[in-house]
Amino acid sequence: MRFGSLTLPSNLFLSPLAGYTNLPFRLVVRELGGVGLCTTDLVNARSLLEKRGKALKLIETRPEDSPMAVQLFGSVPEEMRDAAAYLESTGVASIDINMGCPVRKIVKVGGGSAMMTELDKTAALVKGMVDAVKIPVTAKMRLGWDDQNITAPDLARALEGVGVAAIFIHGRTREQGFSGTINLAGIRSVVQAVKTIPVIGNGDIITPQAAKKMFDETGCAGVSIGRGAFYDPWIFRRTLSYLQNGSDAAIPPEPPFAERVRVLCRHLDLMVEVFGEELGCRMFRKVAPWYSKRFGPAAEFNRHVVRISTRAEFNQVLENYLQWRRQFLDENGELKQKFQPPPMVASFMLEPEVVLRQQIPVPKGPVEVW
Ligand SMILES: Cc1cc2nc3c(=O)[nH]c(=O)nc-3n(C[C@H](O)[C@H](O)[C@H](O)COP(=O)(O)O)c2cc1C
Repeated sequence: MRFGSLTLPSNLFLSPLAGYTNLPFRLVVRELGGVGLCTTDLVNARSLLEKRGKALKLIETRPEDSPMAVQLFGSVPEEMRDAAAYLESTGVASIDINMGCPVRKIVKVGGGSAMMTELDKTAALVKGMVDAVKIPVTAKMRLGWDDQNITAPDLARALEGVGVAAIFIHGRTREQGFSGTINLAGIRSVVQAVKTIPVIGNGDIITPQAAKKMFDETGCAGVSIGRGAFYDPWIFRRTLSYLQNGSDAAIPPEPPFAERVRVLCRHLDLMVEVFGEELGCRMFRKVAPWYSKRFGPAAEFNRHVVRISTRAEFNQVLENYLQWRRQFLDENGELKQKFQPPPMVASFMLEPEVVLRQQIPVPKGPVEVW
């Protein structure tokens, strides 16, 4: 898979997830394999130029965290250009521009999804960035503002014209938020709108089969996975293996419980390394319950893990949970059938009325409307 001059190890991408796609999570995903490029949380271009601590922490990386894209947001052309040049000087592999964020404070100043509404202005801003750097510049957008304004195909074509190396497209409109299902035909219309650059499909991919369906039905060159990687950081490796083997019999199974616990602990170790014990543990409070969604009964774990402030407290919570969980195991130490979590099925593989009942959770907080 190529992005301009950059060759990527696979065509599977980790989507930017503000508050989650920090260095520890990216390292966890990379250690498990299969991912081609990981993107940071969105970073405010101006804050980066002002070298604010928060912005610098968001782009913190290590040699093994490569290739890495940094996602920028902003609406002032000079700031976006200078921030891109600065990022190139630090050695990042590529720069992504946020054009999909519907959060009011970002849209109000002309950034995020507001960029989808003003094609010429956006193309001029992007051209300034492309001309300022040698590394690839990509754009991430939704299908449009609302159903009446599906601007992504025109915008993608305009951006290809000014030298963008790839387009990431979340198959929903800004108005949709995270509701409803992914519009695969909408993604296909973006694929058809560009001449040569890769289009990466995104939205609701939580299984290898869903990734394959997105490839097959949209003609996209790659797929990007966000929340699916919360449930299953192994999804990239499993999907790659499925795509390479092709047959449904070759879909690698979901990892066993012991492996989930191993990776959970590894993730916390990295959080502590990167953010320090107290902050790392506090930040982990919202991460751990995603792992436990595939543990089977986990109420006891969730209730306590959201209060941890130290590694020792986490260890205690885990130990107590492993004891408590024994009541759900059979004589072989496996979760009894009736306690096993239901299989994962992506929204666009379901009937519409089932979709309404089975939305993937969106973490609480200001990001609710991403
Ligand atoms: C908690 C959260 C944070 C997000 N942060 C960003 C972000 O910083 N930049 C961005 O372009 N998209 C962001 N998104 C959107 C995702 O990148 C992705 O497009 C969307 O979640 C759909 O893909 P998924 O169904 O695989 O999660 C965020 C989504 C969520 C749920």
